[in-house]
Amino acid sequence: MLKRPRRNRKSEAIRSLVQETQLSVTDFVAPLFVTERPTQAIKNMPGILRHNYNDLIKHTEHLVDLGIQAVALFPCIDSCNKDELGSYAIRPDGLIPKTISLLKKTLPSLCVIGDVALDPYTTHGHDGILQGLDVHNDLSVQALAKQALTLARAGADVIAPSDMMDGRVLAIRKILDLHGFEHVSICSYAAKYASNYYAPFRSALGSSLIASDKKSYQLNPANRKEALLEGELDVEEGADMLMVKPALSYLDIISDFERTFKLPICAFHVSGEYAMVMASHNAGILDADHVFLESLLAIKRAGASFIFTYAAERLLENNRLERAINTAQCSVAGQL
Ligand code: PBG
Repeated sequence: MLKRPRRNRKSEAIRSLVQETQLSVTDFVAPLFVTERPTQAIKNMPGILRHNYNDLIKHTEHLVDLGIQAVALFPCIDSCNKDELGSYAIRPDGLIPKTISLLKKTLPSLCVIGDVALDPYTTHGHDGILQGLDVHNDLSVQALAKQALTLARAGADVIAPSDMMDGRVLAIRKILDLHGFEHVSICSYAAKYASNYYAPFRSALGSSLIASDKKSYQLNPANRKEALLEGELDVEEGADMLMVKPALSYLDIISDFERTFKLPICAFHVSGEYAMVMASHNAGILDADHVFLESLLAIKRAGASFIFTYAAERLLENNRLERAINTAQCSVAGQL
């Protein structure tokens, strides 16, 4: 045989030299849940907490010590602050604006990503404003643009619309620029699928959909070309970064995006992806850290430049990252 590919796998040193994809702490965005209430564990997401907004500062300092540079905030809103229109989302003294200002005051160089969508704030749990049984696109876009402005005023570095309404990136870009926030970036959830993997997130937020689903705005998991159309529109509307979500079941979409668009691509390794691994880990079926490293490496290999993941904190705390290179593979050191 002239060609023996195993030669490039014969030692740790050679494997590292030829390794095509690396994971680094700078690839991660930590999603964080915030509440007005005392800090509390989230039952279906072992290791993840709903943080009281004051405690969140200390927790984020800890993440920054571990090397995390970016966080994305998701609120758990008390039901007394929810209504049909999600009006609490634009309150300048609301939970998220308050948390963003505190974070930016304490940790000015941290990148704070504010999510734009109404579902944490609406009694019906939809991302926009309902008219009859469906979410009304253009009314929702107006509300979402105002929410984006509220987040920018509080100091968000990046606005991340996760609602999947048509035209919302342009509306957000316009309102931000009009008010002098042309430096604030938009990371659009461009290809967000109507996924079953969001279930633990929805229960963490206490946001349950009332007798309905999000299929009239989130993408059909069967479709690939439609994701490209969404990406193209968001590029035209002025997005700075494009997201694919969830991650592992949509690696083909990440790869399409990476090859098609010149913008940075990110992926959201979502709550269900985290919860499944943790449940198996806690049942003694597999090792969570090794599986997370392999999964995150795969998401990067597919084309994501950065990844929103609940696993970041655990991997960093367990000091797994430097070993990311090797733990995902079987060692056949020294053998040809
Ligand atoms: C809603 C939103 C969802 C997630 C982030 N933003 C859920 C949904 O669309 O119902 C899911 C994140 C996760 O599962 O980790 N705007």
